[in-house]
Amino acid sequence: MSNPSESQRIVLVGFMGSGKTTVGEKLAALLQARFIDLDAVIAEQAGMSIPDIFSREGEEGFRWRETRALESLRASEHAVIATGGGVVTVEENWPLMRRLGPVVFLRTQLRSALTRIGDGRGRPLAQGDDREERMASLLTERTPLYEKADYIVDTDGLSPLAVARLVREKLQAGSER
Ligand code: S3P
Repeated sequence: MSNPSESQRIVLVGFMGSGKTTVGEKLAALLQARFIDLDAVIAEQAGMSIPDIFSREGEEGFRWRETRALESLRASEHAVIATGGGVVTVEENWPLMRRLGPVVFLRTQLRSALTRIGDGRGRPLAQGDDREERMASLLTERTPLYEKADYIVDTDGLSPLAVARLVREKLQAGSER
């Protein structure tokens, strides 16, 4: 596995509320790399917000756009890429992510994710009164998919900067998991 300073891109995956964006920004600063938020790329390419894409095109339309956005990142160099929580559910996305660089799973307990998600604003899959149950079953369903990542980093109880440092250490050590 390549050293982060040499590797072109690092891909962060994990559940909603696992801190991919905040950790990604810190990690990019540590590595003097660019930070790319895949959801922001999707929204920019679509000319609509994520909630608008879901309401006009459904989850299917969003997933299609997500894969296209991942494909479009091939040319970007030396970057930390934060993906959306559901990117791992589309098989086709895996070779695209692996081609970009090492894939790192930011593992979070449901409780911490729910606290960060709050009322789910901006996250169409995390809304409604039954969201805690839905989030719990989504997390159970997706965990084996996140575990396909090259590296796993536990984030509970740690600050975004501490997690970013851990990710950097793991990548530098090149030790898988
Ligand atoms: C999703 C997570 C969101 C966003 C979209 C779908 C998911 O990103 O991509 O709302 O399926 O888990 P975050 O993980 O950044 O919230």
